[in-house]
Amino acid sequence: MMREEKGDQNGRSGYDGVGRFYDLFADNSDIPFFLKYAKKIGSSILDLAAGTGRITFALAKDGHEVVALENSQSMLEVAKQKLKDASSDIANKVILVEGDMTNFNLARKFELVIIPNSIGHAMTDKEQLSTLQCIHNHLTDNGVFILDTYPGEMQYEHAEFKENPVPLPDGTTVERHGEIRSNMLNKIMIVDLQYIVRDSEQNIVKKMEVVSSAALLYNEDIDLLISRSGFVVVEELGGFDEQSYSSDSGRRILILKKSKEKW
Ligand SMILES: C[S@@+](CC[C@H](N)C(=O)[O-])C[C@H]1O[C@@H](n2cnc3c(N)ncnc32)[C@H](O)[C@@H]1O
Repeated sequence: MMREEKGDQNGRSGYDGVGRFYDLFADNSDIPFFLKYAKKIGSSILDLAAGTGRITFALAKDGHEVVALENSQSMLEVAKQKLKDASSDIANKVILVEGDMTNFNLARKFELVIIPNSIGHAMTDKEQLSTLQCIHNHLTDNGVFILDTYPGEMQYEHAEFKENPVPLPDGTTVERHGEIRSNMLNKIMIVDLQYIVRDSEQNIVKKMEVVSSAALLYNEDIDLLISRSGFVVVEELGGFDEQSYSSDSGRRILILKKSKEKW
């Protein structure tokens, strides 16, 4: 018997109910990059919109203290399970916080703040600015903030994709299909993801659909946001392999520090 679930269509909770599948389809090529910067900069680290703790736990395993802030229950549940399963020396390094990256106060400062793959979920100028202002408040004076962006200029107006099935522990498999529609004028991207679980005879046993939205951030939007929130760019990269950024890079990774005037 097939069960069908549909995610929240308002675009704010496109991860609900599907957290357990997130890591199965994640591209982990960013992890060595964050480990390298963490080693260079040191702990403690704030991982914003940390999801399932994919990067948080990699950092903790490498000896860093990490606070992971996330607002989706479904993603947090996976992170909580990882915390339970972790050895005590790793678990002692991780604090999970349910919170909103656009408005938070943890009453402490960090040497390194990261926000991997997530700034677009701050949907409006106001939310983007308040996210960066909160980060500014939580960064030590010499701290580093790594802002990972997908330049709006490089996004497709429409794309569809289908990922290969991945085996699940109960003998079923899950596959993911997606459709991305971008409205270049309103600077919004809608991502519609379908997860299809099949039994060993290929019958569909469960189908879930989640829809999330993200702001399309163009380079000039990002540059304005950075200067308005009191940061300066110290390094600009075009990918996690640390190639330099150019106008045809699909990713723009900014290594930021607080500007002296705002200290
Ligand atoms: C693409 S996932 C990235 C997760 C994680 N950073 C990673 O790279 O594996 C985006 C995450 O942002 C979270 N998110 C979206 N809006 C948020 C908000 N306002 N506050 C905290 N987390 C948020 C989502 O729930 C989701 O877990």
